[in-house]
Formats: sequence, C-alpha cells, structure tokens
Amino acid sequence: MKNLKKILAAVLAIAMICCFAGCGKKDTLTMGTNASFPPYEYVDDEGNIVGIDAEIAKAIADKLGMDLEIKDMAFESLITACQSKSVDVVLAGMTVSDERKESVNFSDSYATGVQVIIVKEDSDIATVDDLEGKKIGTQSGTTGATYCKDDYGDDNVKEYDNGSLAVAALQNDQVDCVVIDNEPAKNYVKANKGLKILETEYVVEDYAIAIAKDNTELLEKVNKALSELKKDGTIDKIVSKYITAE
Ligand code: ARG
Repeated sequence: MKNLKKILAAVLAIAMICCFAGCGKKDTLTMGTNASFPPYEYVDDEGNIVGIDAEIAKAIADKLGMDLEIKDMAFESLITACQSKSVDVVLAGMTVSDERKESVNFSDSYATGVQVIIVKEDSDIATVDDLEGKKIGTQSGTTGATYCKDDYGDDNVKEYDNGSLAVAALQNDQVDCVVIDNEPAKNYVKANKGLKILETEYVVEDYAIAIAKDNTELLEKVNKALSELKKDGTIDKIVSKYITAE
C-alpha cells in the first residue's frame, strides 16, 4: 500500500514535470492564406476557414504530428509573411511562378489552376482576343493581374483586394470582365446572377505550397507528407469533397 502511494506520487510528479516542460504539447504548423477563394479557402457560416487548402494543410500537419493554425491575410502579404516566418507554409491556391521562386521555395504541386474570364451573360467579349482595350478586374498580387497587365497594359487592369470585390465591380459595370482562377470563378458565377465563364482558357498553372527559402527541412517533410497523401488517395478525397466533376 505504502509502495503504491509512492509510485502514484512519482508518476504524478513526472506527469507534472512533463506538463511544465511542454512535452506532450504538439508543435504548431502555421498556414498563411487569403480566405476569399472558394473552394480552396473561404470562411464558412460558423466563421471557420475551410476548403481544400485548409484540409490539405490539416492532413500534412497530422502527418508531421503538429497542430494546425491558420492565419488569414491579404493575398499580397503572403510571400512576405512566409519569408519573415510569421507563417510556416502558404496554401492559398498559389501558383508557382519564376518571380515568386526568387523569394520562396515551392513544394511539389498538388493542383492545377486555370485562369479564366468571367463576363456578363450579354457581353460582347467572346474570346481572349476581345480583351484588348477592355477594363479587366483582377485580385491584386495574383498571377492573373500580372498576365493581364503584361498583355493589355496597366491602365486597363483594375486590382481588387479579393475575387468577390472584383466580381462585384463587374456586376456594377466598373469593369468589363474578371480574370481569375477557374474553381473560384465557378463559385462566384453560381453565387451571382447574370454572369458566365468563357470557354477559352487564358493560362494553365500549378498550385503549390510556399515555404521560406532557408526552411529546407520543412520543405522535405512537406513533400514527403504530400506524396504519401497523394498515394493513399487523401488529396483526391479532399478535392472531390469540394469540387464535383461535371
Ligand atoms: N493562383 C493565383 C495566384 O497564385 C490566385 C490565387 C489567389 N488565392 C487566394 N487565396 N486569394 O496568383
């Protein structure tokens, strides 16, 4: 009996030390995103950030034995946040580009994005060739904005904080079209009357996870987790939860 008490006391003491030392507490993987990009990331009715990217990040964090924390910010701030380590990873439907590769590293790609054109149903814009001289709405800091400025001139491109604002501008005739990624485009068109997506694909691109240049250890871990999640069907499962094949 006495011994049992001693053992219990010892176990309790060890448990307390562990608690204070923080063992048992998981490390946190911090993800930066811009949550106005459904179905990749958006805020649900309960105020939670959900979507394909949020779930992929959660699955990766689980594999690494870490907790996941999501920080929502302007799309334009994500690369800097990653460089300054205020976030560990960026999952934001972010396109791999040579320009961004100068600032951050990218994981293997986990999805494809296509820049498409949203117009009003009665628009005279029918193909990419009709964009010349038109006012084009985009989200600032995105590849769509960059391509449009390069192809049609800065003066013709209006940049909004997020896709919903660009689409609202189209509804109010402040722009003639919106250039944005295909899956969010489908969501916006569904949520707004009188809009359509043109059949033409403007640019096809790869989405990947951005990680600070000097954090190669995390990059390796993320790529390993990603490849396992691709192989065991987790990624496909997450994607088909949010994107239904036509
Ligand atoms: N794919 C585009 C890019 O990388 C747009 C991404 C916008 N993402 C977002 N979460 N708002 O520039």
